[in-house]
Amino acid sequence: MSRVSEFRDLPKIELHTHLEGSAPPAFIRGLAREKNIDISGIFDAQGNYTFRDFDHFLKVYDAACTTLQSPQDFHRLTLAVLEETASHGVIYMESFLSPDFCGGGDLVAWRDYLAAMEAAAAEGQAKFGITMRGIITAIRHLGPDQSRNTARVAAETAGDFITGFGLAGAEMMGRPGDYTWAFDAAREAGLQLTAHAGEWGGPDMVAETIRDLKVSRIGHGINAINDLALVDQLAENGTVLEVCPGSNVVLQAVTDWNAHPIARLRDRGVKVTVSTDDPPYFLTTMSDEYDALARYFGWGPDDFADLNRTALDAAFCDAKTKAKLA
Ligand code: ADE
Ligand code: ZN
Repeated sequence: MSRVSEFRDLPKIELHTHLEGSAPPAFIRGLAREKNIDISGIFDAQGNYTFRDFDHFLKVYDAACTTLQSPQDFHRLTLAVLEETASHGVIYMESFLSPDFCGGGDLVAWRDYLAAMEAAAAEGQAKFGITMRGIITAIRHLGPDQSRNTARVAAETAGDFITGFGLAGAEMMGRPGDYTWAFDAAREAGLQLTAHAGEWGGPDMVAETIRDLKVSRIGHGINAINDLALVDQLAENGTVLEVCPGSNVVLQAVTDWNAHPIARLRDRGVKVTVSTDDPPYFLTTMSDEYDALARYFGWGPDDFADLNRTALDAAFCDAKTKAKLA
């Protein structure tokens, strides 16, 4: 029998989730059935997503996303994800949204998808008491040209709901500087910035991402631990890491929970936060993450209160929203 987490009801702030990556496998299977799409190969015998490594994970992820074909699909997905996330005590969630998965990056189509997600977010707020903001995300393995289009789309739709711009996907393709144009355009449109780095790349990738993209947050960033001068610089500059330990363990970015650097980064003064990334892919929830942090690093309510203060401070929402959530 699974144990109910003692941290389940603790109010939590989650900064790093991917909306499509939060789709439960049963939800995706349902869409596949409705649309006659054969993606049976991406599930294991228990019906969970299955993948061998990070590259294969990205392929499985892309295959699952082929079932998400209309604004209505994204409305249903957003509402389902908000219900599940809120059930683990999350009161504020930021989600990476990819126009490339919503009408292929076309601005006119994107407006319809976005309206559907924004309407679902309002419904989720009313029904489940969770606040959501969207971070439009370029996909690194689609290349710098496509990232420019994504940034234009982001700039056009920046507002109360879309408050950030990010970069996800295959980190080892190209260098951060290839995406400077996109990040400059997003910043000029008033968006706040984050990028995945140091999940697969080394400290150099984290340092270049900060230098070239001028982000205030880094997705993962865990490999910074291999250069303590960089760790001290992150601490001094207040760069926030969106750490997703369960994701790192399952994707084997670290060998196991004991080897995860989150506690070492935090002990050296880095602002760390905790998120789930793509929870059904990694068979995790925010409750599971907190349980593991308690088990492996001895963290308790005071540590979690500190994490959540850091996350709220770093959240891509306005001061009035933060005050309500504090
Ligand atoms: N997209 C979804 N999950 C991701 C991850 N962990 N790293 C990079 N891109 C992603
Ligand atoms: Zn991520």
